[in-house]
Amino acid sequence: MAINNHPPGTQTDFDAVEVFLTETLVPEARNLRAVVERADDEGMPRIEVMPNHGKLLELLVQMIHARRVLEIGTLGGYSTIWLASGLQPGGTVVSLELEPRHAEVAAESIAAAGLRDRAEIRVGPALDTLTELGRSGADPFDLIFIDADKENIPAYIDAAVELARPGAVLILDNAVWHGAILNPDSADEAAIGVRRGLEAIGRHPRLTATAIQTVGSKGWDGFAIALVT
Ligand code: SAH
Ligand code: DHB
Ligand code: MG
Repeated sequence: MAINNHPPGTQTDFDAVEVFLTETLVPEARNLRAVVERADDEGMPRIEVMPNHGKLLELLVQMIHARRVLEIGTLGGYSTIWLASGLQPGGTVVSLELEPRHAEVAAESIAAAGLRDRAEIRVGPALDTLTELGRSGADPFDLIFIDADKENIPAYIDAAVELARPGAVLILDNAVWHGAILNPDSADEAAIGVRRGLEAIGRHPRLTATAIQTVGSKGWDGFAIALVT
């Protein structure tokens, strides 16, 4: 329902607003275009977070004075760089990536951004690496960003809570998945993974959460944000 007789926006409007918001509030995103271009040149998918979402990640890291950040799904390192940029001095992002080539490209971009000593990429299936992190008694994380394969989201949420300190922030990308989460019988495994992930967050005894719908150049999607209690 529209308010005050404003017509609903179109995709063209959403794109134009995204450009305006990014140019007005997030001018530093210009400096990160090369990161996306490098990944694009490598034939990697254009599924990184939007600039205004990347800046939200940086802001959240800054707002909670995070020193240890965990990311699940590195791709070309675009979101990794936003997360690393918000860290307190001496802080680290540990980013988990299945594809060795993605990890290599990301490492190049992270180094080019001058953040080599603030990010560590661990290659392999994230579920395995999460288990290793738990077994090795890794220091707890202050913020965890989940943005890899959607089928495993429920398992990533459980693992994330285990690896988080009380008071940590958990962020889930693609929380709306073009609305496909509404269909509990969807044939889309990703849609089912996101929906079950949201349900798992909603009933988790240690999580209190919300989600916001977003629009922009990547279409209709959302971010879920949870606090680990
Ligand atoms: N966070 C990135 C985008 C990540 S895209 C950004 O916003 O810039 C999702 C990434 O998850 C891809 O690089 C994909 O290779 C990786 N991925 C898929 N399945 C995975 C798994 N099981 N374990 C770890 N990474 C996985
Ligand atoms: C897509 C977008 C994402 O942010 C992601 O993590 C995976 C896929 C997509 O639009 O297909
Ligand atoms: Mg995503």
